[in-house]
Amino acid sequence: MRTTHVWCSGNLYRLTVGPGALQQTGEELRRLGFRSTAVVVTDETVGALFGADIERSISDAGLSPHVITIPPGEDQKSLATASVLYEHLNEMGAERSTPLVALGGGVIGDLTGFVAATYFRGLPLLQIPTTLLAQVDSSIGGKVAINHGMLKNNVGAFHQPLSVIADTSTLLHLPARDLGNGLAEVVKSAMIRDAGFFEFLEASMDEVLGQDSLALEKVVALTARIKSAVVQEDERDSGLRNILNFGHTIGHGIETASEFALCHGEGVAIGMVAAARLARTLGMIDEEDAERLSSLLLRAGLPVRIPADLDPAIVMSAMARDKKRLDGRLRFILPTRVGEVVVRADVPEQLVEDTLLSCYDNA
Ligand SMILES: NC(=O)c1ccc[n+]([C@@H]2O[C@H](COP(=O)([O-])OP(=O)(O)OC[C@H]3O[C@@H](n4cnc5c(N)ncnc54)[C@H](O)[C@@H]3O)[C@@H](O)[C@H]2O)c1
Ligand SMILES: [Zn+2]
Repeated sequence: MRTTHVWCSGNLYRLTVGPGALQQTGEELRRLGFRSTAVVVTDETVGALFGADIERSISDAGLSPHVITIPPGEDQKSLATASVLYEHLNEMGAERSTPLVALGGGVIGDLTGFVAATYFRGLPLLQIPTTLLAQVDSSIGGKVAINHGMLKNNVGAFHQPLSVIADTSTLLHLPARDLGNGLAEVVKSAMIRDAGFFEFLEASMDEVLGQDSLALEKVVALTARIKSAVVQEDERDSGLRNILNFGHTIGHGIETASEFALCHGEGVAIGMVAAARLARTLGMIDEEDAERLSSLLLRAGLPVRIPADLDPAIVMSAMARDKKRLDGRLRFILPTRVGEVVVRADVPEQLVEDTLLSCYDNA
């Protein structure tokens, strides 16, 4: 078990990573000074797997667990479901000091975090992420949100958790595709910031895929640390945090063009390889380093080429929509070598299009 600390918006919070970590939820609540009710929000799938363990841990620490279970799925990141949670909190007489415990993937984390940020202008929040994506990405950094009117994450807030408990043994239940979804963010973090970690991944990908407990613990702790370090330096998302979007500009375009048949991590994997191609064309990175990125992603079971049936015009137009959001300038995070990226807002559109075409499966 590893315990480390994350410094965000003036609070220091604890990040506990390791197999069986969620058994410590009750103790952690006590350590934070809570003594009465703790509200656990989870989904049916996660609740069936780990709900009883969390309830026991909370009761053993002398608190009363109040568990709210909602259906799984992105649809639940809605104002309607937030409203259901507000209703529960009203009915049970929740107080300003009642902690919310988000037990689940990024959907539960974002939704519960949003409710925690808004109910009584802010309830204490604990994140217990149970997908790899949630452990390495969504539970870190304090962004919480719901989706509204077909737009994703457009209604939200910044609300830091008091503590994050990432129990790596929960990942044993995760379908392989969800593991890959998180691994794309892991490889991304190593590529943008930490060449040593990248080498570790190259040496240990088999252990990671086999869910070797020490390897997973290191992967989750290091990736979470990289994200928290970047966020800590740029908490309000103004500049540096952009580097966390490596692979995401093109990745979103690809995800959208596939009508979400490709999951986020798959889009990002292809997007990172395409960004590395772009950097290669601009003479910014060696062939060898660009190649190391694609090989590592392939070994993680992720795609690296754009499927032949995706319409390049749709990929480009989805990227153009992103551009509108960014004051008319499309920003690319381009790797200069393993462990280092730069932000570029001056890449000619024609070059982007040509590079995309060269990244197609049939190119
Ligand atoms: N806040 C942020 O900074 C941030 C960053 C990245 C992504 N996100 C958000 O995260 C969400 C995606 O998160 P996700 O990929 O974790 O998806 P998810 O929360 O939908 O979880 C995926 C599925 O796995 C199930 N599940 C969860 N843990 C499990 C386990 N241990 N074993 C078996 N099944 C399990 C869930 O019930 C769900 O059906 C998106 O809504 C995205 O917008 C937020
Ligand atoms: Zn992402």
